Formats: sequence, structure tokens, C-alpha cells
Amino acid sequence: MADAVPPDRSGDALARAVLVALARVIDPEIHRPITELDMVRGVEAQPGGAVRVDLQLTIVGCPAASTIEADVLAAASSVPGVTDVDVDVSVMSPETRTALTERLRAGRPNGVQFTPDSLTRVIAVTSGKGGVGKSTITVNLAVALARRGLRVGIVDADVHGFSVPGLIGLTDDSGRAARPTRVGQMILPPVAHDVKVVSIGMFVDDPSTAVAWRGPMLHRTINQFLTDVFFGDLDVLLLDLPPGTGDVAISVGQLLPHAEVLVVTTPQAAAADVAERSGVVARQTGQRVIGVIENMAGLVQPDGSVLELFGSGGGVETARRLSVGAPEVDPVPVLGSVPLSVALRTGGDSGVPVVVGDPSDVAAVALSAIADRLVAMGRGLAGRKLNLGVR
Ligand SMILES: Nc1ncnc2c1ncn2[C@@H]1O[C@H](COP(=O)(O)OP(=O)(O)OP(=O)(O)O)[C@@H](O)[C@H]1O
Ligand SMILES: [Mg+2]
Repeated sequence: MADAVPPDRSGDALARAVLVALARVIDPEIHRPITELDMVRGVEAQPGGAVRVDLQLTIVGCPAASTIEADVLAAASSVPGVTDVDVDVSVMSPETRTALTERLRAGRPNGVQFTPDSLTRVIAVTSGKGGVGKSTITVNLAVALARRGLRVGIVDADVHGFSVPGLIGLTDDSGRAARPTRVGQMILPPVAHDVKVVSIGMFVDDPSTAVAWRGPMLHRTINQFLTDVFFGDLDVLLLDLPPGTGDVAISVGQLLPHAEVLVVTTPQAAAADVAERSGVVARQTGQRVIGVIENMAGLVQPDGSVLELFGSGGGVETARRLSVGAPEVDPVPVLGSVPLSVALRTGGDSGVPVVVGDPSDVAAVALSAIADRLVAMGRGLAGRKLNLGVR
């Protein structure tokens, strides 16, 4: 290690020690050491201790530039024997950038991520009806899983009704979503609460814009989210689907046939009909329904009594119906019932998911328990090649 080298060294030894130290500087957007990203073009050191680092950023106006420069300065200055550091900042040539993005996509034919063979667990959150809490649940589960140490991403697949940036705190005061950084063809997803997020809301200028696209355009958008957005290695990718069984649900089914599906429903028994439909459509594309989440269950009153505003039994009934004729051996479970909660709603409105903002809230506790169950279930084998060849 650099620190073990005695300070009285030649320029070359010092330059090598500085390079070792620079390997600890992580690009805050790509989440890899800058030395692996061809960002350090060279290090020169004088025997007296003066060091010059030739740093090249991926793009002009890189939002992380000042952080990277400060980290480079700190890392180089920390090397024993270094007396003075000069960081010379430039920008990569288009050729270098292309070579870098191709290297980062290595092993992915046509850039398609999350193929059935990838190690990422893909979980699509769906429902029959709108407004049952899919987006709120997706965001809270994602954040809860990230807090358990998993590498998590969200694709906001609700192109017409995107809401994930707001729910996870990636919007400014005017409601505009954070802009992803682009490196050539590659899009770097903004990160909030350790979750990488992409949403169409990040690409429209006015948050009130209606994205009035038909099927093919929706399909292209979802496809682009899954190919051009650099998520890196993820343990879990969650998809927030629009309600119902429309074009997006079908596209997601085609693009990610190995995805696991969570069906969200309200406790109303009558809601089971429509909830069941969304699960059946998912299954037709080969996806596996791994569970039902009942949301907006009984509201706990100040006196301890429970107000069942939306009735009860919808979760159990949906799970029962989805279990009939299910190709899986085990019946579809109800993974949890999330009560009505003011803290959950206000957390969504302010972009601080309740599992971080108010973890002792009843809904937060229920959502955390569901995250634990998902971790305990592990990844299913749906759509995976099992390699059970005859030997
Ligand atoms: N358990 C709950 N308690 C209180 N409010 C909730 C609960 N779950 C969701 N909400 C609120 O209900 C509204 C709808 O939630 P959300 O947007 O997550 O639903 P959705 O299913 O994604 O809707 P859409 O179908 O429009 O995409 C939001 O205002 C949210 O804060
Ligand atoms: Mg939604």
C-alpha cells in the first residue's frame, strides 16, 4: 500500500504510490474507481514531492466534477512524500468515451441488461386498479432493501403517470425531476436513498407534460430504460408499473419474461376481480406471481380501534384466486398487509419514504417486514436456464 512506502522515494515510486491512492477515488455517478474508468491519464511526480495529476472527465460540465477533483486532490495529498498537488482537468475525447461505455457494457449483447441469466432479481409491481399504492410500495420496498445492503434500482415504467421521482425525493421545488447524466449513449441514473432511479419524468421539461405515447413508443422507452441506463451490477431491480393490463405491462412481460410479479390490491373483496386479472396477464408472458400485497388496510385510531375504510379480505381473496391453476407448486402468498397511514402518505408527498422518515410507523413496519420476506424468499427460477444437460 502507498502508506507503507517510505517518503524519500524517486519520482517514479511516488507517482506509482499516488496512482494507488487514486484507485480509492470513486466516480460518484458511475460508482467505480476513476482509475478503472480511464479518467486518470497520467501522474507525474518530482523527487521533491510535487505531483501533477492529469484527470479527464467523461463529459463537459460533468456535475460531479468538483467532487471528483476534490477527492483526487485529497487522495494524492494523503500520500507520504507528496508536498504539492496540481490537478490538470480535461475532458475525454469522443473516442475514449465510446471505448469506456463499451467496456462498461461488456458482456451484454446489444446492451440488454437483466437478461434471464443475469444475477439481478427483477420484481414488477402491478395492480388491476389505479391508485392502490403501487408506486408508494415500490419506492418503500426499494429503499428498505437498499438499507439491508442490497444494490437496488427502480425503473418507473409508468410512462404516462410517472410518480417515482417525487416519491423518492428526486424532484426540486417546482416538481422537476433530477436529470440523469449522459456519457455518450449511456445514461447514468440519479440516486436517492441509495436507490438508482430512472423515470420518463427525468426527460421531460415540464413536469405537467402529458406523455401521450402509444404502444410502440412506450415499448421503445421501456426498452431504452433497460438497455441504455447504466445500473451497474444490481441485486434487485423493481419496476413500478402503470395500473391494469395495458401496453406497458405487456412490453415488460416481453422484455423481462423472467420477472417476478407482486400484485397490489386494496382490502375490498370486490377489488380481487381486477387484481387477479393483472396477475393472470403477467403469468401469460411467463412471469411468476410471487405474492400479493394488501394496501390501505385498517386505519389504527387514536383509541386503538381499527377503522376498516376499504373493508377486509381483498388480499387473501386475490391470493386465493391467483393460486387457482397457478403453475407453481406453492399457493400465492399474501406477503403483507399495509395499513392506511398518514405518515406513509406525507412521506410520499415530501419525497422521504416512510421506511426512512418514520420507521416505527405501522405502515413502515409492515413494509419493512415485506422487504424481509422478499429477501428470505430469494430469487425464483422463473425463466432461467437451468443447464441440466445430460452428462
Ligand atoms: N397505506 C396508505 N395509507 C395512506 N395513503 C396511502 C397508502 N398507500 C398509498 N397511499 C396514498 O394513495 C395515493 C396513491 O398511491 P400511489 O400513487 O402509490 O398509487 P398507485 O397504485 O401507484 O397509483 P397509480 O395507479 O396512479 O400509479 C398516494 O397519494 C399515496 O400517498
Ligand atoms: Mg403509480
